Amino acid sequence: MATINSNFLKLKAGYLFPEIARRVKAYTEANPDKAARIIRCGIGDVTEPLPAAVREAMHVAVDEQGDRATFKGYGPEQGYEFLRQAIVDNQFANLGISADEVFISDGSKCDTGNILDIFGKGNVIAITDPVYPVYVDTNVMAGNTGDADENGAYEGLLYLPCNAENEFVAGVPSEKADLIYLCFPNNPTGAVATRAQLTEWVAYAKKNDAIILFDAAYEAFIQDPEVPHSIYEIEGALDCAIEFRSFSKNGGFTGVRCAYVVIPKSVTGRSDDGTPIPIHQLWSRRHSTKFNGASYPVQKGAAAVFSEEGKKQVSSLINHYMGNAKLLREASIALGLKVFGGVNAPYVWVSCPQGVSSWQMFDKMLQEAQVVITPGSGFGSAGEGYFRISAFNTRENVVEVCRRLKEQMA
Ligand code: MLT
Repeated sequence: MATINSNFLKLKAGYLFPEIARRVKAYTEANPDKAARIIRCGIGDVTEPLPAAVREAMHVAVDEQGDRATFKGYGPEQGYEFLRQAIVDNQFANLGISADEVFISDGSKCDTGNILDIFGKGNVIAITDPVYPVYVDTNVMAGNTGDADENGAYEGLLYLPCNAENEFVAGVPSEKADLIYLCFPNNPTGAVATRAQLTEWVAYAKKNDAIILFDAAYEAFIQDPEVPHSIYEIEGALDCAIEFRSFSKNGGFTGVRCAYVVIPKSVTGRSDDGTPIPIHQLWSRRHSTKFNGASYPVQKGAAAVFSEEGKKQVSSLINHYMGNAKLLREASIALGLKVFGGVNAPYVWVSCPQGVSSWQMFDKMLQEAQVVITPGSGFGSAGEGYFRISAFNTRENVVEVCRRLKEQMA
């Protein structure tokens, strides 16, 4: 009989969002009359149609595939030059990034998980709590942790607690870490890091020869001009940071799939004998071996996000979702709850009423208000006592969620 990767047996229950979906399904099966009333503000999945500029570019690309003269088979695994260059010109101008340091993929969830392929064993891995669960679960799968304790914290990970006191932005630890996951604007809390806070992290990484894995999937939602969009805005980051970005939330690509990783050639790890090795060459090798590139029509659609029309259309999508976030924030504040996020991020992070746990709040909102939220404890034990409301929805649904929240708390 084949042996299995026993690390999978250490994982806690199901992945958070399928678990939520399972509970919602069970509820709707038991209460079919309520099914139509359910409003989903759980998973951060976009609701608004793909921008017209993106659709037009994809139509043209599909038609090109219908003509032998313009047909394209396998593309470059790392992504087409037209998209890599458009990303640099529009997202990283003057930040010292070149097009061959951008790797196109089909999603940041996959990228942040797959990146572990190129790192060795024995790294000290720092992870915030609460956190996007993919970072934790993929480290468990990779064998980088021991077992979970009764609070769900895995032995071997260095947890960086985030709470109301530090406004959900972790400070640098006193311990030495080798790999550090940072996500700003943050999923789930919606917190953003200031330039000064990111500068501290870059200094820490350089001092400790560590690498920052910087997830900037939500950067397009930043409203405050003082808040950095990229870790490369911080001096020194080109030597110690990898950045993950996505078209999912800004361009509405959750169903279309396109993302990218930026790996400056100056970022190095060390081999077993201590020789510094550029991470870029390892990821390039990995990508070429395990990935055949995002599809041509999808990459054409992604490039259209940076066209003049595309930029205007994306900006109106962002305004729509941030308008939702504002309503959800204001409604929660009006109920006397403590509220974080929702200002530079599409997630609103809300304290549960006194004495109510995260999952109790989830059940209450589902069963009594037919609104799906995400329990804060699903993102780590420090998320207990909070819930996350996603602003990805129609305006009509958001207004109704605000009304039902108020009704629940009355
Ligand atoms: C979330 O709701 O946290 C996100 O949608 C998850 C993701 O982007 O994978």
